[in-house]
Amino acid sequence: MSGLIPRSFIDDLLTRVDIVDTIHARVSLKKKGQLYAACCPFHNEKTPSFMVNPIKQFYYCFGCGVSGTAISFMMAYEHLDFVEAVESLAANQGLSVPREKGKRAKAAAQAKQKNKSLYTLMEDVAHYYQQNLQKNSAAQAYLEQRGLSREVIDRYSLGYIPEGWDAVSKRFSQQSVQNTTQSYTQQQLLDVGLLIKNEKGRVYDRFRDRIMFPIVDRRGRTIGFGGRVMGDGSPKYLNSPETTLFHKGTELYGFYEARQHTRKLSRIVVVEGYMDVIALAQFGISYAVATLGTATTKEHVGHLFRAVSEVIFCFDGDRAGREAAWRALQNSLTVLRDGKDIRFLFLPMGEDPDSQVRKIGREAFEKSLQRDSISMTDYLIEHLSKSHNLSSREGRASFLAEAGQLLQTMPDGLICDQLKVDVARLTSIDLAAFTKRKRKQINAEPKQSFSRLNDRKVRITPIRYAITLLLHRPALAAEVSNLEEIVMFNLPGVILLAKLIETIEESPHINAAAILDRWRDTQHEASIVSLMRWQPKSDDDVMLAREIKDCLRQIRKQAYGKKLENLLQKERINGLDDLEKRDLLALLRECDHPERIEQ
Ligand code: GTP
Ligand code: MN
Repeated sequence: MSGLIPRSFIDDLLTRVDIVDTIHARVSLKKKGQLYAACCPFHNEKTPSFMVNPIKQFYYCFGCGVSGTAISFMMAYEHLDFVEAVESLAANQGLSVPREKGKRAKAAAQAKQKNKSLYTLMEDVAHYYQQNLQKNSAAQAYLEQRGLSREVIDRYSLGYIPEGWDAVSKRFSQQSVQNTTQSYTQQQLLDVGLLIKNEKGRVYDRFRDRIMFPIVDRRGRTIGFGGRVMGDGSPKYLNSPETTLFHKGTELYGFYEARQHTRKLSRIVVVEGYMDVIALAQFGISYAVATLGTATTKEHVGHLFRAVSEVIFCFDGDRAGREAAWRALQNSLTVLRDGKDIRFLFLPMGEDPDSQVRKIGREAFEKSLQRDSISMTDYLIEHLSKSHNLSSREGRASFLAEAGQLLQTMPDGLICDQLKVDVARLTSIDLAAFTKRKRKQINAEPKQSFSRLNDRKVRITPIRYAITLLLHRPALAAEVSNLEEIVMFNLPGVILLAKLIETIEESPHINAAAILDRWRDTQHEASIVSLMRWQPKSDDDVMLAREIKDCLRQIRKQAYGKKLENLLQKERINGLDDLEKRDLLALLRECDHPERIEQ
């Protein structure tokens, strides 16, 4: 069994590999100033917005927002998992990938190995279901009667599980199988939800006599199943429970298949059912996905927006469909940035995408996606206007309250601004008063304007600018001292800055890509990615050193200011204890001598 790949190897690999070579071998790049550009391989476009930065060893697409290191590029472009991507890049450099031997590494590797065998288990079971389908004429007849072609049955790897309480146990449990390559412990089968244990301790198969729809994750690994009765039995669908592999709130049915089918997807249609996804694919609309019998979450929408910039929710016109749509809208607002588009299409009563596409065909269906769908903003306004009485003062107030709550969850931008204008018009209120609260929030957090980034005038806090500088030139960490005292003030971003400096001090030769990789899948990843995009204007070491010192001075000043403000406020409300009084006096004294703060 192999251990974890040592961190130092990943750092080293990311400094040796040239991301420009890695990407250029797959997508032709053109030099553009300090950067290299291409049409983005991950979404459809005609003018290049995919940039590769050779200094930071990092890519970024201004169109669809994908970004990452050479490792993430390999993962996304070649559909590899992390270890495979590292192995492939290492092989190219003539390196073999070392593994850690420590106790902790071993435990982590064991956990990984355990999941790995669960994935293999799911894959074996999916195969078994497929073989059963080939042997069962009733199941084949059902799918034929539902109008599914051989080709889509294969593309979505549909299968069948016959009647019986122990078909899966018999075929895969170690207790009954001699063939050790395809046998698993009963616990493993319980862990992935294929077996159920009742209160009496009896263990039996979850799925019996059902058409089986394998659910795969974004890398194509089977993580769960949906099973449909043939005919009118109940429940109509039975799904795998949440397991260590399967999380309904983040996975989408058909997403992997859609991306396999079309590398450059430009839009995605979200529907309610498995059968809808498959029927649409059969008719040539192979960009549909479905949630797994749950509401659409912001994680779902986030994943979709990483792949495409247009998402159309296509739901039934009945009440359930409208409710699902409103939930989807509420959960989408937080991830709705400018340049992303959400639309809603409500189908005629009694139709679902499956029945509708069979009735009107691909061309009319796609036309209707364009023509009959309603934009997110229109839908929001329409829904709110219907649920509040705008002709009464109370109605306008409750409309405003609900709208205000929704808008508050949205990122700043043109879409949000437009909605504010609409809301203000409908309630005939003063727009300035409506946005005043927001402005107050911004002013409470003074931002130092650094305009040196890429000629663009951006307002960025000194902490964020310091991070930008460190990503550009990690060696600047040596210029930073006394960070501990600032960390205590809890300014936004300061923890990340401190951790970043610590990381660089531990591994002085680290580059930006390796830094990004360390924060992969953490809450700070998005901030690092967004700051990676900015280039300080000057590349001169003396200038850069001066700039980071400048930032630290600003940060220190801000921190002192904040502490002073807190103490003064506390004094007004509760009074101060002796220690706090001493601090306050010391701070007031410091403020009389700003040069001492600024050293
Ligand atoms: P068909 O009737 O086969 O056309 O199914 P459909 O794809 O049109 O599904 P439907 O619109 O009835 O339901 C949409 C989705 O909700 C399904 O794909 C399931 O994920 C989920 N669902 C439907 N019925 C059930 C049920 O009885 N139990 C559970 N757990 N989920 C269900
Ligand atoms: Mn249906």
